[in-house]
Amino acid sequence: MSKLVDNWTQWLKSSRFSYMNEVQRQQALLWLFDIRDNILDRAALKNNDTLLDVGTGTGLLGFGAYERIKDSGKVILSDAFSDCLEECRKIAENSGITEGMEFLQSDAADIKLPDNSVDVVVMRSVLVHITDKLTPIREFYRVLRKNGRISIFEPIIKKNTKYYQLINPDNFANYEQIKEIEDKIASDRDDPLVNFDEHTLGNDFVKAGFKHIDIKLSIESSTYEVDPAMIDPWFNTPPSPDRPPLKQRFIEFMPEVEVDEFLERLKIELGGKSITLNSPVAYVYAEK
Ligand SMILES: C[S@@+](CC[C@H](N)C(=O)[O-])C[C@H]1O[C@@H](n2cnc3c(N)ncnc32)[C@H](O)[C@@H]1O
Repeated sequence: MSKLVDNWTQWLKSSRFSYMNEVQRQQALLWLFDIRDNILDRAALKNNDTLLDVGTGTGLLGFGAYERIKDSGKVILSDAFSDCLEECRKIAENSGITEGMEFLQSDAADIKLPDNSVDVVVMRSVLVHITDKLTPIREFYRVLRKNGRISIFEPIIKKNTKYYQLINPDNFANYEQIKEIEDKIASDRDDPLVNFDEHTLGNDFVKAGFKHIDIKLSIESSTYEVDPAMIDPWFNTPPSPDRPPLKQRFIEFMPEVEVDEFLERLKIELGGKSITLNSPVAYVYAEK
């Protein structure tokens, strides 16, 4: 874990929203609920389904699924980290959930469940934190029953809008260097956040043996006016508890003093301007 965030629960509950004002925070939550509903709709849940939520975090998908199948099915909330499962247990207890839900500490690459034991796997934004994505996808195939369904969502971060696409090259003497650094960061094969896209995901599902693979790519767009005070948090907020903030990535390629100069220039360049950020996301559905 990075020194900036102690654990996943802390990141999920507060760090990821740290650069947002209250309105943006509420919008982000509505956006998450929308994604949850899309993932669960695509999973076409049925009575008596046993559903596995991989990398459940604070239970976004698992509790949503429970609402849909609690009368006859079973939901297994799994995560590699115990703090997440403790948080989910607390939520379940406070919600009076006593049956139809199980908690499983398990790495996605080594799921502690027998072969052919679940009907549905759902997952949101977990592969994006795992360098080798094929091994967990093979695990999903193994634990699913024949004709079992999988419905997942992953952000395709490598295709997000880059800062160099938002600024005027004439205003930055080192524009080409900035561009090169951002492109290098976005194509780092060892960085789980960016070492994949919708095509490589699809290929991994094929390699694992899945059929009826359906990939829906959509481009999430957000337009807003930049408050210069947002820039430091953009560069200093870790993208996950175990990955360095963007500023640290820049420092790998450029002296810190120059990164700081770039950030100050960026505040002047973007402050008060309306910008549009595009973030492609992929929904993948498949069957065993
Ligand atoms: C961005 S959060 C998503 C949480 C939740 N799915 C949601 O939609 O809010 C990523 C989650 O993946 C979990 N995770 C990270 N690496 C994992 C791994 N190798 N195996 C299982 N879970 C993992 C983290 O603990 C965290 O809960």
